[in-house]
Amino acid sequence: MSIYFDESKALLTLETAASSYQMKIDRAGYLEHLYYGPRIDGADMSYMHRQYDRGFSGNPYAERYDRTFSLDTLGQEYSSFGVGDYRVNSIGVINPDGSRCAEFHYVSHEIRAGKYNLPGLPAAYDNGGEAETLVVTLRDAVTGLGLRLYYGVFEALDVITRAAELFNAGDSAFVLEKAASVCLDLPFGNWDLINFHGRHCMERQPERSPLNHGVRVVRSERGMSSHHQNPFVILCERDATEDHGVCCGLMLAYSGSFKAEIEMDQCGSVRAVMGISDTQFRWTLAPGESFFTPEVLLACGDGLARLSQLYHRLIRHNICRGEYKLRPRPVLLNSWEACYFDLNEDKILSLVREAAGLGVELFVLDDGWFQGRKDDNAGLGDWVVNREKLPNGLGGLIEKINALGLDFGIWVEPEMVNEDSDLFRAHPDWALRAPGRPPMMARNQLVLDMSRADVREYLYNALSTLFRENNIRYVKWDLNRSMSDFFSAQLEPSRQGELGHRYVLGLYSLLARLTTDFPHILFEGCAGGGGRFDAGMLYYEPQIWCSDDTDAIERLEIQSGSSYGYPVCTMGAHVSAVPNHQTGRTTPLRTRGVVAMSGAFGYELDPAKLTEEEKQEIRRQIAQYHADGELIHGGLYYRLSDAAKDRPCVAWQFASPDGKKALLNAVMRHPQANAPLVHLRLKGLNPESLYRVAEDGSVISGAALMRGGYTLPQLLGDYPAMQLHFEQVEEA
Ligand code: GLA
Repeated sequence: MSIYFDESKALLTLETAASSYQMKIDRAGYLEHLYYGPRIDGADMSYMHRQYDRGFSGNPYAERYDRTFSLDTLGQEYSSFGVGDYRVNSIGVINPDGSRCAEFHYVSHEIRAGKYNLPGLPAAYDNGGEAETLVVTLRDAVTGLGLRLYYGVFEALDVITRAAELFNAGDSAFVLEKAASVCLDLPFGNWDLINFHGRHCMERQPERSPLNHGVRVVRSERGMSSHHQNPFVILCERDATEDHGVCCGLMLAYSGSFKAEIEMDQCGSVRAVMGISDTQFRWTLAPGESFFTPEVLLACGDGLARLSQLYHRLIRHNICRGEYKLRPRPVLLNSWEACYFDLNEDKILSLVREAAGLGVELFVLDDGWFQGRKDDNAGLGDWVVNREKLPNGLGGLIEKINALGLDFGIWVEPEMVNEDSDLFRAHPDWALRAPGRPPMMARNQLVLDMSRADVREYLYNALSTLFRENNIRYVKWDLNRSMSDFFSAQLEPSRQGELGHRYVLGLYSLLARLTTDFPHILFEGCAGGGGRFDAGMLYYEPQIWCSDDTDAIERLEIQSGSSYGYPVCTMGAHVSAVPNHQTGRTTPLRTRGVVAMSGAFGYELDPAKLTEEEKQEIRRQIAQYHADGELIHGGLYYRLSDAAKDRPCVAWQFASPDGKKALLNAVMRHPQANAPLVHLRLKGLNPESLYRVAEDGSVISGAALMRGGYTLPQLLGDYPAMQLHFEQVEEA
């Protein structure tokens, strides 16, 4: 039992193992938010919300003559618009009479076993007995607009999910201009905001800043969750560290344009509202219809490490699906940085022959294999093989690759089209394009209108034929431009504001169909690297190419930044050639292996260009990845140091959930002469046990390793790396 209703106090309380969430149906029927934070064991938190006269000029009062009752200062579960709460609104609507006010009063609630679903949208799921659902129904008493608030409580996982449904039980249409997924008021405390900004080749960089009065906006308007901001924010107490302090995360399981607005109000209260971006959003809600928002995953942990681990567990077990969810992922060799567009059968087979001798399990034929694709000017949309490059077709090639002992995977970019393609010549109106304007080009390509059923049907047929006719075990699903020209030739003018969300729903429905029909294919997401790295995509594709930047030293920051919200098993990470193609930097092969191994591991280079010694190192890396796979993907992840550029040593660690094994990883970014000693304090060990360090044979107690730390030997040269295995040998 994790959801409680105290009728006498009108309190609804959600309890997880270490957190509590509380709301109250107040005397006026509003659903007030009282508390979210560390567990308070069912205490009634309303005592903290002392109301006094705030009915001076700045704050209207909601009950007509009670000056102590102002919506502008009360916590809300779904903030209203136009009726006296001037903070960030959750709802924006044009009512049938043209007015814009909207506020909701409690009607009823229901508690049920299991986790709710959201039609057509990704949502955390229950593996059996893990979750309970609370549905609170509310209504605007004047307009009749209905609202259902959904709460999924994963008690043992310490996660609460939220989503909203707006429904029209009347007989005239409403136009929604904003429908947030969550409104979370944090009435007390000093909070910092951590958001994850970035750019192509440097995604998901944590940026922490104290909240001040006013509104901070974290958003993407690119039609995708974007390289530039991730749909994940953390509110943490000002003194919170990796190990201590209240940290609340809000992660939107959505892959389109989004907005998180975080406001500190006149009284120092903080409100976070998150959901689909309202900038271009406008949705007609006809009589009898419902609109479901995407889901927000809320977690609250003591310290940032704990918060990250809560998300890692949730995403691995309750978001990712399919055959590969918990299976070791195949070690792959991807052709992109080895060949770019310059492909032919001989070249590919020589890569594969070499790779087979190294222990690589799957070969991925990246961009360049299909009709018309000489470079990035042509071909997108025509998903048939390029016979000039591959005269024996994919079938002939795959047979030879399979005979060499490797599985085969392929790259596609289904949502895009080049003007120079048969598809575009036949269906120019299938691409997004604003009337009367030349279409905005990016990487010489246009965006297909995924809101259209005919576009999706074409793609389903083209891709399912490709997958059915060929022994394909892996698909890299790419998307290489930000979207623009949001106009669909099929939607009527008043519904153009629905396009962004309809695009995402269309994408999800195509992915749902393909992943159901081809369960043996491992899908990896990609968007010019990590431009669509979000929990929504992970529901369909259990791993995502983390970044087009394969430089091991830059990857330290990218993978560390990603780790705040996402588990390492979801991060595609490859060892590539040196000098690195993005930065020109040369790093040791060992270091590249150490960094890529903390991910869904693979290679992206021409193995024929390696020395015998390097090939031996790769064989060793692959064997080690297999040996440590469960510890890396199933263990608890700890950031032992900040990955920021100015730090000389970047370290991170995995610990088995029982604390008996650990793997410490360290990379020296700035080698120094006469350098101070580096002590790395391990985490997640059993303090009373002894541990043997496999690499140097020393035996050290868990307490010493966690309080004093492990002292690294002197590491010289350019970017050296080290991995150390700790194993419990004896209990004290
Ligand atoms: C994107 C991907 C790369 C590669 C290229 C191919 O940039 O992120 O890994 O697949 O497209 O064009």
